[in-house]
Amino acid sequence: MDRMKRIVAKGSVAVITGAAKGIGAAIAQDLAARGMVLALFDRDEAALGALARRLDTKVIAVTGDVAVREDCEALHDAVRSRTGTPHLLVNNAGLMRRIGPWASPDEWREVLDVNFTSALRLQHLFMPDMIDGDQPAAIVNLGSKEGITTPPGQAAYSVAKAGIKVLTEQLEHELRNATGGRVSAHLLVPGYTYTPMNFPDARPSDRKPDAPWSAEQTVDYFMARLFNGDFYILCPDNEVTPAMDARRIRWAADDMIRNRPALSRWHPDYATEFAAWMKS
Ligand SMILES: NC(=O)c1ccc[n+]([C@@H]2O[C@H](COP(=O)([O-])OP(=O)(O)OC[C@H]3O[C@@H](n4cnc5c(N)ncnc54)[C@H](O)[C@@H]3O)[C@@H](O)[C@H]2O)c1
Repeated sequence: MDRMKRIVAKGSVAVITGAAKGIGAAIAQDLAARGMVLALFDRDEAALGALARRLDTKVIAVTGDVAVREDCEALHDAVRSRTGTPHLLVNNAGLMRRIGPWASPDEWREVLDVNFTSALRLQHLFMPDMIDGDQPAAIVNLGSKEGITTPPGQAAYSVAKAGIKVLTEQLEHELRNATGGRVSAHLLVPGYTYTPMNFPDARPSDRKPDAPWSAEQTVDYFMARLFNGDFYILCPDNEVTPAMDARRIRWAADDMIRNRPALSRWHPDYATEFAAWMKS
């Protein structure tokens, strides 16, 4: 897709949040190798600085918290004054907490602010220049399968990621009408990936377990699908195939259509039927 080759190109500008570690750092490494100018944002100043020093491209490193309005505005100001309107914005920063349905709204707020409101805020800051300009541009928001099939256990995270899915779908629709496709939105949904989020105590010398993909595998898959112009970029891993994801998504949608109990996939009365569905 030629438009995407102009966005992900030597000298073009990419903004990545949560760039210091995990998937964000792997995206930064990939885009740096393609010669993009990078504005990297993270609250972990030491890890961000270490990554910036390793990358062989022009890097603007901004330390801040995506949940803090002033920090997001500082990122926007730094990018605007030092590189101009970005070609690519990757809303990647996220955090996982096991916050359930009757945890306090204050406990929910952190999860919603970091995983959802941050993307909304940065979209609000960066999109007007992208829309008013004449260059091709794209925004990538990080969703999760937890926001699509919504497994029980971390309700706040699932709500935030379900919000990201809807927000990104709505954004893509509006951009299609407002810019004729010059500016696009994409939903990146990693599979199970070997990052500090899932393995906070892992040391660099540790061997990756078999089930997750490495962050680099996830990013290779993402980039190929982005160049294909895909909106939904749902990544597999070493245990979950695209066919399994498709069956799980169809089952979840059928809960409402067939008047089954909520989250019937995890309901004991449906265990046999669900297992048969996955095998069929
Ligand atoms: N790892 C997975 O299996 C997986 C699966 C599905 C979705 N995701 C999503 O992918 C994205 C990246 O996940 P990851 O596994 O690389 O996470 P990670 O925890 O390994 O890295 C996240 C990065 O974001 C930064 N960050 C966190 N909160 C921040 C804040 N408030 N302000 C600024 N920076 C902040 C962290 O310092 C870190 O550098 C997240 O949105 C996550 O929800 C990950």
